[in-house]
Amino acid sequence: MQLNFKNILVETEGRIQSITINRPSKLNALDQATIKELSIAIQAAEDNNEIKVILITGAGEKAFVAGADISEFSDFSVKEGKILSQKGHQELFSRIDNLSKPVIAAVNGFALGGGLELALSAHIRIFSENARVGLPETSLGVIPGYGGTQRLAQIAGKGRAMQMILSAEMIDASTALKYGITTVVVPQEDLIDTAKKMANKIMKNAPSALTKAIQCINASYSHEIDGFGYEIDAFGSCFDTPDFKEGTKAFLEKRKANF
Ligand code: COA
Repeated sequence: MQLNFKNILVETEGRIQSITINRPSKLNALDQATIKELSIAIQAAEDNNEIKVILITGAGEKAFVAGADISEFSDFSVKEGKILSQKGHQELFSRIDNLSKPVIAAVNGFALGGGLELALSAHIRIFSENARVGLPETSLGVIPGYGGTQRLAQIAGKGRAMQMILSAEMIDASTALKYGITTVVVPQEDLIDTAKKMANKIMKNAPSALTKAIQCINASYSHEIDGFGYEIDAFGSCFDTPDFKEGTKAFLEKRKANF
């Protein structure tokens, strides 16, 4: 199916789906139309059996995403604010976090507010050296509403999340690396190649095992799920998959698995 988007570019290269947020004149700020398009593109990538890994980045050299589009919500009521947050969680941010396929965020500049929250909902973050990230919402009289208070604390730890959110400060790529917000920092010209190399490494592994690994790691952050119990069940269920049969057979036959 050919999908037509206004604010994002979608490109398939091999089995990688690249999604580029493309509003550079607004530093790729996430308005609701862009969130909707991202959610449709992510869903289409998940439904497409040819796609194994999804890569999200921002157009231009200045910004990944400079936040939710402030011009859209400056006159919102309490009810509208709550709906904005709830819809964002459901349509995009929690959807990415819980996606059955790995999502890599290639952060190529400013990732602020909703932009950092988008990167935090991806499974892996790779930063360019010029990345500057933060959750500056308290400076606008709000708080992060797309999962930032939860995911930043989970990823960077409570103390760092408190410091970053309460101070509204921006941190650079090397500080983000120290905080564990990114696992890799590379020169900007190498960012997409590095992300694609990571995608290619991941896609050598069994898709059904990747899905289960994502679910189990996420289960450890759920208050409703016993993560260890969840892992035991998921581990057991691997033994009934064609991926497991192929993976173990390939090892014993001293060849590469063909998933
Ligand atoms: N929402 C809406 N528009 C945004 C935006 C956002 N979050 N971030 C940037 N823009 C727009 C600017 O309004 C400007 O548009 P204009 O040219 O029509 O006036 C354009 O993008 C370029 O931004 P500008 O501020 O001129 O660039 P800069 O290099 O001087 O500053 C930032 C860059 C990122 C520091 C600055 O844009 C900024 O602070 N943005 C808001 C960040 C934020 O608070 N995000 C959290 C939102 S909850």
